[in-house]
Amino acid sequence: MNILHIDSSPFIKDSVSRELSAAIVTALKQTESEVNTVYQDYGTNSPPHLSAEAMTSLRSHQSTNLSDSALAEITAVNQAIEQLKVCDALVIGSPMYNHSISSHLKTWLDLICQAGKTFRYTSSGPVGLLKDRPVFIASSRGGIYSHGEGLAHDFQEPYLVSMLGTLGLKDIHIVRAEGVSMSHPGRDVAMANAMQRIGQMFNLPAMAQPA
Ligand SMILES: Cc1cc2nc3c(=O)[nH]c(=O)nc-3n(C[C@H](O)[C@H](O)[C@H](O)COP(=O)(O)O)c2cc1C
Repeated sequence: MNILHIDSSPFIKDSVSRELSAAIVTALKQTESEVNTVYQDYGTNSPPHLSAEAMTSLRSHQSTNLSDSALAEITAVNQAIEQLKVCDALVIGSPMYNHSISSHLKTWLDLICQAGKTFRYTSSGPVGLLKDRPVFIASSRGGIYSHGEGLAHDFQEPYLVSMLGTLGLKDIHIVRAEGVSMSHPGRDVAMANAMQRIGQMFNLPAMAQPA
């Protein structure tokens, strides 16, 4: 099994999403044989923003007389899409920033969402061109957004589900640690609950212990 593992928190020490995405990869390794992992740390090594020159080239499918920087951006697009196409499972660590995803993860989405490559426009709207495969999102947020007043302000998980679904990736499993900055549930309980969910998802009783 080929796993594409992406982290997008700029924090390393004490990052909740990094710890959860790593636990998901560990669980996958315990349940699958011959696992090959490609790891992208976009939290500390952000993908490039696309310039107008690169985006014009990608949309027009014309690649003559491009600057070196635009060529490098298009290479990054092609590499990111290729990594996505060949993986059997995608694991994404996603911290909530300002009700949405981190800009680091957004720049990756802007690379992979390319008309004619990963989706196409039809008269009834965009259609995904990627074959479906399991996607695991390790979601971390300081407050509570899965229910109550926060629900209307969650532009992180629904956004990821929407954009990945546009590309054809609909088998999405969310592992969530929320309320990590609050006194209740707080980081420890939220993390224990998320680890329990991973244990249940992969049928690993040792991880599935209640908090
Ligand atoms: C710049 C920034 C913006 C944040 N915005 C929100 C937010 O809108 N809502 C929220 O509940 N938590 C917010 N947080 C808290 C993070 O979601 C929380 O600390 C989470 O654990 C971050 O993931 P990480 O531990 O993997 O870095 C923010 C944190 C930072 C640094």
